Amino acid sequence: MLLEARNLRVTYRGSNGSVRAVDGLDLAIGENEVFGLVGESGCGKSTVVKALLRLLPPTAVIEADVLRFKDQDLLALSPRRFRGEILMRQIALVPQSAQNSLNPVLRTGAQIVEAIRAHSRITAAKARERVVELFDIVGLQPELVDRFPHEFSGGMRQRAMIAMSLAFEPALLVMDEPTTGLDVLVQERLLGRIREIRARVGSSILLITHDIGVIAETADRVGVMYAGQMVECAPTPPLFAEPWHPYTLGLKNAFPSILDLGRELISIPGSPPDLSNPPIGCGFGERCPFALDDCHRERPAVVAVGPERISACTRTADIEQIRVAAARKSTWHS
Ligand SMILES: Nc1ncnc2c1ncn2[C@@H]1O[C@H](COP(=O)(O)OP(=O)(O)OP(=O)(O)O)[C@@H](O)[C@H]1O
Ligand code: SF4
Ligand SMILES: [Mg+2]
Repeated sequence: MLLEARNLRVTYRGSNGSVRAVDGLDLAIGENEVFGLVGESGCGKSTVVKALLRLLPPTAVIEADVLRFKDQDLLALSPRRFRGEILMRQIALVPQSAQNSLNPVLRTGAQIVEAIRAHSRITAAKARERVVELFDIVGLQPELVDRFPHEFSGGMRQRAMIAMSLAFEPALLVMDEPTTGLDVLVQERLLGRIREIRARVGSSILLITHDIGVIAETADRVGVMYAGQMVECAPTPPLFAEPWHPYTLGLKNAFPSILDLGRELISIPGSPPDLSNPPIGCGFGERCPFALDDCHRERPAVVAVGPERISACTRTADIEQIRVAAARKSTWHS
């Protein structure tokens, strides 16, 4: 495994109490794999990213039974070694809202040159040559290196940020909501580009999104997060063909699919729980149309439901009936 997290927990401490934003998450990403992490806003996706990249604020506490990258224990690594050996060189990030994170008063290429030189001892001229190569990988013309960010479209700025993240050909590229805020055509082009980058550079990719359509098109395996937990994880085709968790069934209903264009979209009623006061039992219990009394007593165990598949629902024995009922609007909105 390239990256392995077991029982990852992140708590934000505040004067009015704590928020357990990630609560016992297991995650494993292999070599040359695209792993998609999907879930509604506030379920803890960016917190996972920040925990991996040490970008959490000082108020956050991170704990894990295992947090390993290649053969290194990430929790034991000093901040200096993490910055010098791992950050950008081995694990690079395209942050959420990346297209807005370029400095508007500096030329785009110069900013990437600066970032490269902050992590290596190469000359400005060599770094600039590298930026031209990187622009080529993400499909930006060499002359754009000397343009200002406002001369780029949103999609081009996003690609420039991806170029920056590829500077050292990291083994793992983390992209937090790379397509959010872009129009549909630009999103499509960007996803095509991400697939090409993966083929050309060979990095594994951790792709974070709230949009399961993006995951369906790009990821090899998918983790579905809800209220700080991984509720289902599976290779992408079987996850969409036959979900095992009611929340995944709800997400599938709520998003359009190219395989099923005429289908009426069904939203999941309600909203995710307040993580400063999480429910007892299943995190999805308050919104789940299949909840039984037991669901509100104990947190469901994570169980294997097929090859490389897990689900955290107590009603796996009834999944056939649940899948049929979940396709009806009346099940969710009675
Ligand atoms: N710095 C912080 N201090 C306190 N709570 C935080 C902080 N950052 C995030 N949270 C809380 O942690 C939870 C998870 O937030 P996070 O940003 O990880 O979610 P997300 O899945 O990335 O959401 P989105 O899809 O909106 O980006 C939320 O309840 C959020 O309010
Ligand atoms: S454990 Fe119960 S409440 Fe949770 S998803 Fe399964 S059926 Fe629904
Ligand atoms: Mg986020």
